[in-house]
Formats: sequence, structure tokens, C-alpha cells
Amino acid sequence: MAEVRPTREEAFSLLKEYNKNEGLIKHSLAVEAVMRYCARKRGEDEEKWGVIGLVHDLDYEQFPQQHCQKTEEILASRNWPDEYIRAVLSHAWGMRTDVEPKSNLEKVLYTVDELTGLVVATALVRPSKSVMDMNAKSVRKKWKEKSFAAGVNRDVIEKGAAMLGVELGELIEDVIMGMREVADQIGLKGNPEVSG
Ligand SMILES: [Fe+2]
Ligand SMILES: [Fe+2]
Repeated sequence: MAEVRPTREEAFSLLKEYNKNEGLIKHSLAVEAVMRYCARKRGEDEEKWGVIGLVHDLDYEQFPQQHCQKTEEILASRNWPDEYIRAVLSHAWGMRTDVEPKSNLEKVLYTVDELTGLVVATALVRPSKSVMDMNAKSVRKKWKEKSFAAGVNRDVIEKGAAMLGVELGELIEDVIMGMREVADQIGLKGNPEVSG
């Protein structure tokens, strides 16, 4: 069968088909936005990067015990290209899969999936509850507090940054910039007027 190139619309309706949890949908939208931002910055295929970001956790709500394995089945049954499936699987390298991130797309996904979690947690404890007025410095401060957002695996982020050869500070900035583009949809527009 000929491979199809999935559109953003198809990816989003697939996401909605398998996920009802708002938090998970927001996480998917955040990762999509950051992937798009990073693709644009690198002159890469924004649509492809975004679509892969959007579906990377497709199976997580319904099949948490078979995370990734089910996504692979679902995407394969819908005739998604191998390149897309491989990239999705690589986000959980060393945790759920043994698919090592090789391309820039995969390395960025592997890294920003965790990093978005830390940025969200940092935004939520700010007086403004917003990513709009936030800078990388606030995230770095929280990075050092190991008990803060303890579920965020700092080792994964460091490993990803090393694979990419990009400074952590730059990656944090990219994540903030990407998330700003969808701040409203992911509930992190907050109220930047409130300073503190
Ligand atoms: Fe995941
Ligand atoms: Fe994720």
C-alpha cells in the first residue's frame, strides 16, 4: 500500500478519538507547538514535526501499560509512514522502547517531551500563571530543585541536549517560545499583568 502523509487534521482527530483527558490533550498540543517552533528555527518540515509531536502519546490514556506499543499498532493500521512511527517510538527510548533517537526530529522530540513538563510546572507556580512573561532563568532555578516537578526526568533532558549539541538554556527558551504560540489552548496564557 502506498504511504500517506498524515495531515494535521487527521492527527488531531486521531488524538481526540483516543484521548478525552484534557491534560493529555494540552500536553500533546504543547509538544506539537514546540516541535513546530524548533522545525521552523532549523528550516525543517514544520508540518511533519508538528504532526509527530501531536500524536506521540496517542495511546497513553487508554493503554498506559502498553504505551508506545499500542500507538505503533494504531498508526501502522492507519498506514502511517514508518518514519513517523519510528519517530514517535523514539520519544520513549530507554523507557518504553529501544528505538534510539537518530534524526534531529527524534532528538528534539525526546528532549522537549520532558522539558515541556518542567516549563508547565514552572509557569503554574508563577503569580501570573503564564508562559508569556516567563524566561529561561525561572525554569533553570526550578531545574535545580530536585523535589520540584520530581516526575520530570532531568537526566533525559540532559541526555537529549547532549545528543543535539545544544545548550540547555537555548532549549528551554525554544520550549517557552513554542508554548507561547498556543498559550491560550494549553491554559497557560494566565495573566501576565500580575507581577511578582
Ligand atoms: Fe510518552
Ligand atoms: Fe509526552
